[in-house]
Amino acid sequence: MHRAVVLGTGSCLPRRVLTNDDLEQMVDTSDEWITARTGIRTRRIAGDGEQNYQLASRAAEKALEAAGVSAEEIDLLVVATLTPHMMMPSCACFVQAEIGAKNAFAFDLNAACSGFLYGLDMAGKYIAATPEMKILLIGSETLSARMNWEDRNTCILFGDGAGACVLTGAKQRGIVDCCLYSDGSLWKLLYMDSPASRNPDLLIEERNGCFLQMTGRDVFKHAVRAMENAVVDLLNRQQISINDISLIIPHQANIRILSKLTERLGADQEKVFINVDKYGNTSAASIPIALDEANRQKRLKQGDLVLFCSFGGGFTWGSMLMQW
Ligand code: ACO
Repeated sequence: MHRAVVLGTGSCLPRRVLTNDDLEQMVDTSDEWITARTGIRTRRIAGDGEQNYQLASRAAEKALEAAGVSAEEIDLLVVATLTPHMMMPSCACFVQAEIGAKNAFAFDLNAACSGFLYGLDMAGKYIAATPEMKILLIGSETLSARMNWEDRNTCILFGDGAGACVLTGAKQRGIVDCCLYSDGSLWKLLYMDSPASRNPDLLIEERNGCFLQMTGRDVFKHAVRAMENAVVDLLNRQQISINDISLIIPHQANIRILSKLTERLGADQEKVFINVDKYGNTSAASIPIALDEANRQKRLKQGDLVLFCSFGGGFTWGSMLMQW
């Protein structure tokens, strides 16, 4: 059977850096509080020429270049996002036009922070059926447009950015297994109730609905427990131990969630990839940005077992094992 293997990765972060000191000027908070509670020191904020599809397109171009694949060779283009700048067309169709992937069919996938993992699983299934397919999978967000910049409970946590990878079929390595879950009954703990819009007047009129709403403490508890269970299920199913994993790339939500998860899994801290300090929580973009950084830092060797896990609004969560 063919598995989905990553041919190349890429990422794109907005130019503007927003520091904790900057946030001190905006809401009643401090660098000390934010660093201690979240581990986040800076995040990136999209500006001119950095709409969601533009960040996604730049990340995609880098992934295509790294893969040695042209945009015309892509058969399927998927963008995992919860912040498309329009309801229709999809962000994926904008990216298709921007990069010239004219032979691809394109659509968005929304599973909040788990979107990229859901997308990888779906790509794996397309490729198992049609191994020669080339799939461009992107996670891209402009969450800064959905923040209430007067709410210190949320605005300190999130950032903008995009990550991408190109996948195709291979026999010896690739996606090994995946466990995905959802629980819609808990949606009120984390949500945005109105659709996206490019129209700034509409954003102001529907202010409250546009903003991300969160009950932080409850989300924290669910996130740790759910990711731990998802990883344990996967390890048990594959009959391997956490020590067999070369690198863990978790969704970058906040350092305390990641520390608790590492502790409960009995994992070696050195094997957990962390960049939440630089970019904050970039939702569906967080895993592909981290994957691209790990790849470019040469932390992944052919044959390594890589473990991904995520948790996000919905709730949605899951884990994935990939042989690099
Ligand atoms: N600066 C200073 N004080 C603050 C801030 C801030 N930015 N935000 C909240 N506080 C205050 C609160 O008002 C509260 O004050 P009070 O005791 O006078 O009422 C106090 O700090 C404690 O508030 P809590 O919400 O209980 O703080 P907690 O320790 O839970 O930390 C946090 C809050 C960081 C949001 C935490 O709950 C968390 O990380 N939750 C997970 C959220 C998350 O990661 N969401 C992302 C989406 S899901 C995902 O990606 C996994």
